[in-house]
Amino acid sequence: MSESKKDYFKNGTSVPVHVGVIMDGNGRWAKKRGMPRKYGHREGAKTFRAITRYAKEMGIKYITFYAFSTENWQRPADEVKSIMDLFEKYLDEVRDFVDENIRVRFIGDRSKLNPRLQDKMHRVEEDSKDFDSMTLILAINYGGRDEITHAVKEIAKSVESGQLSPEDITQELIQSRLYTGGIPDVDLIIRPSGEQRLSNFLIWQSAYAEYYFTNILWPDFSKKDLENAVLAYSERNRRFGGV
Ligand code: FPP
Repeated sequence: MSESKKDYFKNGTSVPVHVGVIMDGNGRWAKKRGMPRKYGHREGAKTFRAITRYAKEMGIKYITFYAFSTENWQRPADEVKSIMDLFEKYLDEVRDFVDENIRVRFIGDRSKLNPRLQDKMHRVEEDSKDFDSMTLILAINYGGRDEITHAVKEIAKSVESGQLSPEDITQELIQSRLYTGGIPDVDLIIRPSGEQRLSNFLIWQSAYAEYYFTNILWPDFSKKDLENAVLAYSERNRRFGGV
């Protein structure tokens, strides 16, 4: 256990249950070094792995990474391909995470992904479904508005078939039909690289989230940065609209 982790518990730090991370700044990181953008994504993927491991060590129970948005298809085809190739490579390696008792889930519209990738995603979810030290959630071809639209369509179908009546539609029902069904709302959203916006990430689930912004580019985001984000979260007084 690192010194700083001991400090957490000494100071009574409250660790968020669910952390969301927008992995931003890979392209700029590479550009600063005169390298192609895909090199930044490769380094970003390494950071993803290290931060996942450390989140588990810190006692975070759910961590969601925004890996590819519904809008990211607009990027040049070779950049999209390099990101997809990285997912595939990391999905093969995710068995290391699985061995660490981490459950893996994916959120987003996977129907547009390569069938081989979809198959691997399904297998990883199945193989890890009983693991409970932490849940790692990867948002791939994910968009918050797309997610809500999908949930509304599903509910409309249930109403049309007579399984539900409009009075049955509650916030809890909507929440259960989101891709994140069964996962608690996000408590803390971390966005590196200096941008201060949500970019369609977990828009329903972040209604009461705290935000942590830093200028560090994602490939440089360190364990210490995760600790700083958790400490900042812990120092805030969350009232959920009460007094
Ligand atoms: C945003 O940075 C990053 C992405 C759109 C891709 C994130 C993907 C990875 C880190 C690689 C694979 C992920 C996993 C889970 C293995 P940007 O390209 O928008 O950076 P910029 O704003 O500096 O251009």
